Amino acid sequence: MPQNYIKPKVFDCNTEVIQFGPGNKYGKIEKLIQQNKKVGFTKTFGTALAFYSWLKKRALNKYSIKDYRSERLFRQKFRELTSNILIKVIEGKVELKGAPHIPWLKEFFPGKECFYISFPEFLGMNGAWQWFSKGMRFPGLPYRLHPFYGTYFPTRTEHLELFDEWLNKNNRRFGKAIDVGTGCGVLVFYMLKHKITDISATDINPNAIYSLKNDLEKHDLIQNVQLRQGNFFAGFDKKFDLVTFNPPWIPGKPKSAIDRAIYYENGMWCDFFNETANHMSAGSKLVLLFSNFPLVEGICNIHPIQKQMESDNRFRVSNIVTKQKKSDNSLNNKSLSEETEAKSKEIIELWDIEFTGK
Ligand SMILES: C[S@@+](CC[C@H](N)C(=O)[O-])C[C@H]1O[C@@H](n2cnc3c(N)ncnc32)[C@H](O)[C@@H]1O
Repeated sequence: MPQNYIKPKVFDCNTEVIQFGPGNKYGKIEKLIQQNKKVGFTKTFGTALAFYSWLKKRALNKYSIKDYRSERLFRQKFRELTSNILIKVIEGKVELKGAPHIPWLKEFFPGKECFYISFPEFLGMNGAWQWFSKGMRFPGLPYRLHPFYGTYFPTRTEHLELFDEWLNKNNRRFGKAIDVGTGCGVLVFYMLKHKITDISATDINPNAIYSLKNDLEKHDLIQNVQLRQGNFFAGFDKKFDLVTFNPPWIPGKPKSAIDRAIYYENGMWCDFFNETANHMSAGSKLVLLFSNFPLVEGICNIHPIQKQMESDNRFRVSNIVTKQKKSDNSLNNKSLSEETEAKSKEIIELWDIEFTGK
């Protein structure tokens, strides 16, 4: 396990928790959590899950989801509310009948015999455990990847297909390549598939680096990839023939390291292009995977990559290849809502950019 890895927040066992068994009135429990009181359930996991599902239906009625902003508000409010539902873990096991077993509960908290974890954290951890233990398939890759807890993995595949096709067409020899913000490392595996064998990969999130290391070791490919946790190029002091980045795509304030997969702060693009210019030689390629989502949702009124390219003569756009987004969540069909109108207009983009060397 990496040092300082991200793990869920837990609460001491002496936290004041009001316990409910089956048959209690949901309205009464809802009032308590609205007052920020912590509640717990006794006997079965199903009782807790049934209450959670009931609450979700009510919240969906209250915050109707029309677009990205209303969906975000719903998620935030629902999470705040359900964070007050706690479940008890004793020696790595949830003490409710029928609760899923997650080995991480023991591994992540050695020496902590008893603690509480919030219901949404537990569900998130269980989902992550399922992907980690069973593995995920990505189009055109011969093996499954196993994203570790707290690591970003793609839930749609269009950008992966674009990258795979791009590598196929650009079958010139890329000596040194780097995948900035590698997440579960999926782009690295496409590079390896296309016989690029000197790869570096970075991520600010330590869990991502651990995740990729595990999968590379499983497939005996670790000798081809140097991994480093850190910002952008994370101190790698070399020039690359190919730089890839599937960046966070929504301007905003990330609240956690995991959020940094999605939200980026002011100045990110400028810093990224400045650093990238220092790590490329004339003719090197930069591949950016993006989409028009922030534009169609009205989050931005100008495309951030286009804006940079218009004023930065160090880079020249060679090509932009696009794909219409398929219906939502092609790999993970746990969609919350109907597709919003804007989401259905989303176009996925691969920006093929050359470094001019100026
Ligand atoms: C949208 S995810 C893409 C992950 C993966 N490359 C993929 O295509 O699925 C963005 C990733 O970039 C990482 N990231 C965000 N800002 C970064 C930065 N300044 N330096 C390095 N990594 C960063 C996030 O932690 C996250 O893993």
